[in-house]
Amino acid sequence: MQEKLQSIRERALERLNQAADTGVLEQIRVAVLGKKGELTALLRSMGQLAPEERPAMGQKVNELRALIEEKLAERERALKEREKEARLQKEAIDVTLPVQPRTSGAMHPCSIVLDQLLTIFTGMGFEVVEGPEVEYDHYNFELLNLPKNHPARDAQDTFYIDDNIVLRTHTSPVQARIMTTRKPPIRIVCPGRTYRVDEADATHSPVFQQIEGLVIDEGISMSDLKGTLDAFASRLYGEGITTRFRPSYFPFTEPSAEVDLTCANCKGAGCRVCKGTGWIEVLGAGMVNPKVLEMCGIDPGKYTGFAFGIGIERITMLKYGVPNMKYLWENDVRFLKQFR
Ligand code: PHE
Repeated sequence: MQEKLQSIRERALERLNQAADTGVLEQIRVAVLGKKGELTALLRSMGQLAPEERPAMGQKVNELRALIEEKLAERERALKEREKEARLQKEAIDVTLPVQPRTSGAMHPCSIVLDQLLTIFTGMGFEVVEGPEVEYDHYNFELLNLPKNHPARDAQDTFYIDDNIVLRTHTSPVQARIMTTRKPPIRIVCPGRTYRVDEADATHSPVFQQIEGLVIDEGISMSDLKGTLDAFASRLYGEGITTRFRPSYFPFTEPSAEVDLTCANCKGAGCRVCKGTGWIEVLGAGMVNPKVLEMCGIDPGKYTGFAFGIGIERITMLKYGVPNMKYLWENDVRFLKQFR
């Protein structure tokens, strides 16, 4: 029995030393200390010994069990440590490795400006509304007091789809759509693309964008229009920027005005951008023509309103000092990436 004990000890310790992973340790534990393990079997066979030999032998078996358990635990700690090291090594990220350069896109400058305009107007309580770019003559012209023989309807200016359908020449048809479907109070802005038969040059393009504003309620006056546009001007370009109204003509507003903003470049002192005048023409506006209100089903005896139309490209060019409108639609990345 002594010999057997010795051989169990030697083999167990040798296997333990060679064990390459914690799975093997478990196999050893079962083979030696388990219910059907070698050492357990040895303990069971003690009955064959003389009674006086049993205590000494029992003690030796228990000592071996304790030793193997201790070695198992020790070996397990070492292997676990090694396995962890290996895992960490495998998962390690070399933070000094140069990353693949990633090119990120940029908002188009017109989108940046439009976003800003919408923030300003929604901040004043305007609701954003959109309308179709392919529009009925009825909304684009007729309801806006542009009768069939009006010069602004000249085929030179308008892309006709057929006799009754056009590519909208301004965002004002959205006004007409809203006035015919809603009751005052109305307070909306309508951004979108517009189309005119125009040769593309530094300040013109057959496709451009506008944002339309419309307010209708009882007691709305020209001073509300002026106040709204002054607030808009200073929020867009900063303190000290105001508006100047010059008399003008639009069939759908009466009175009508061309509205200039203080030149943001020279703060009104006069420079190259404003051709020395201190003012920049930015938008058209006026009080909604009572005839238009009436045609759209709103009582002009009770309600008044104002409207304005701003050119998005124009504001964008002024804001960023873009010298030619073509840069806005050419989409040359060398231009666009400057707005990242
Ligand atoms: N619709 C006009 C244009 O395209 C601008 C405008 C809008 C003028 C609203 C007055 C009121 O030029």
